[in-house]
Amino acid sequence: MRESRIIRVAILGFGTVGRGVYDLMQRRENELEEKTGLRAQVARILVRDAGRSRDGVDQALITDRFEEILADDSIDIVVEVMGGIEPARTYITEALKSGKSVVTANKDLMAVHGGELLSLAGSMERDLLFEASVAGGIPIIRPMKQCLAGNHITEIIGIVNGTTNYILTRMTQDGMEFSDALAQATELGYAEADPTADVEGYDAGRKLAILASIAFHSRVTFDDVHTEGITKISAADIRYVKEMGCVIKLLAIARETGDGIEASVQPMLLPAAHPLASVNDVFNAVFVHGDAIDDAMFYGRGAGRYPTASACMGDIIDCMRNIHFRCMGRIGCSCYRSLPVKSMEETMQRYFLRLQVEDKPGVLACIASVMGRHGVSVKQMVQKPIQNNSAELVLISDSVREADFCDALEEFRGMDMIYEVSSLIRVYE
Ligand code: NAP
Ligand code: HSE
Repeated sequence: MRESRIIRVAILGFGTVGRGVYDLMQRRENELEEKTGLRAQVARILVRDAGRSRDGVDQALITDRFEEILADDSIDIVVEVMGGIEPARTYITEALKSGKSVVTANKDLMAVHGGELLSLAGSMERDLLFEASVAGGIPIIRPMKQCLAGNHITEIIGIVNGTTNYILTRMTQDGMEFSDALAQATELGYAEADPTADVEGYDAGRKLAILASIAFHSRVTFDDVHTEGITKISAADIRYVKEMGCVIKLLAIARETGDGIEASVQPMLLPAAHPLASVNDVFNAVFVHGDAIDDAMFYGRGAGRYPTASACMGDIIDCMRNIHFRCMGRIGCSCYRSLPVKSMEETMQRYFLRLQVEDKPGVLACIASVMGRHGVSVKQMVQKPIQNNSAELVLISDSVREADFCDALEEFRGMDMIYEVSSLIRVYE
């Protein structure tokens, strides 16, 4: 039997994304019935300041009281686009408990409490869909849960933060320093007033936790993800890296290895020929490796009003279809395994290292001896022009256990002939 009523949707939050969802709901009003068999309308909008009028929106829809939405049994779907952990977590929990399906764009919440919320949705036989929480408008969660379900996925590599990708693109293409590129990103409205979550890699880390949980069917939370940002990357690093045929990108990488999951976000050297190397400006992309599909890349706009609202609308339409055919909660939590997440020290990495050293015979031999003792082999090395009795060594190592490389670095820091370790950046392989 099919439902034949109007689906009523409450939007929690009316900022960038909330407004976009409202606009798309109006734009698609007539098509929704053709697409889903049901009509839909925005029933309520929750904001902090209900007194402020919102352009083109019936004031009667606006409320600052979530209790009104919760108590309204005619509301079928709650779209949470407020952000943050609380009260979003409580509102989603209450909405699911009262039998409403939920759509959210909230990566902060899903990266930490996704397991508990999805399990509640499952027990209530309701949908909790979160396509917009990773890479904005790019379809990636549903493709991984559904279209790629026939694969054993072993690796995901993402450029999932537009702000940092914009900054690194300006540094690469225009030779800017980090601070100037950040100032430009702020001026253009890409970077937030407080850019910490973007430039320190936390935003990408949250998205990676969500992606890794889906890809490997084992819960990975934000705390499990090793995060490093791009604040220490200099224009000089970018120049040297270019000479070596690479670019620097903030990569979110998750791998399933034989002995656990690796999950990290960090700036990395990427060969210029890799498809992700040409993902520039604010664009995002996710590269997935599966045993059957081999490689697949998903590319597009990772943020912004309508790209993000596009992902929310796709989820709303899925919820409507599931209500129509009475099959809510069809695709819930897919974490049926429990794999360990490895510490960074246990992982194998290659490194790009820039050292300022004393310019005298025997220095290179000492450096090579320290590296050799710790099992670090050098793949590529150049010495840069000498100034004031010092030389700059730029080298790329072969793959080595991170803990061993860190031990070698510790020795370098205690050596008089090494003036400074200027840069240390991992190399993708
Ligand atoms: P935003 O512009 O700051 O808007 C937040 C909205 O939520 C505002 O309308 C605010 O109300 C309302 N709100 C916040 N706390 C509230 C509370 N306690 N009670 C009632 N209303 C509250 O945020 P946004 O950029 O749209 O982001 C929303 C969510 O989407 C976040 O989870 C974000 O991570 C995610 N997301 C955003 C993007 C993007 O491009 N912006 C992309 C992907 C995912 P007032 O208007 O009254 O202040
Ligand atoms: N701040 C994010 C970015 C957008 O720069 O990609 C929201 O996820």
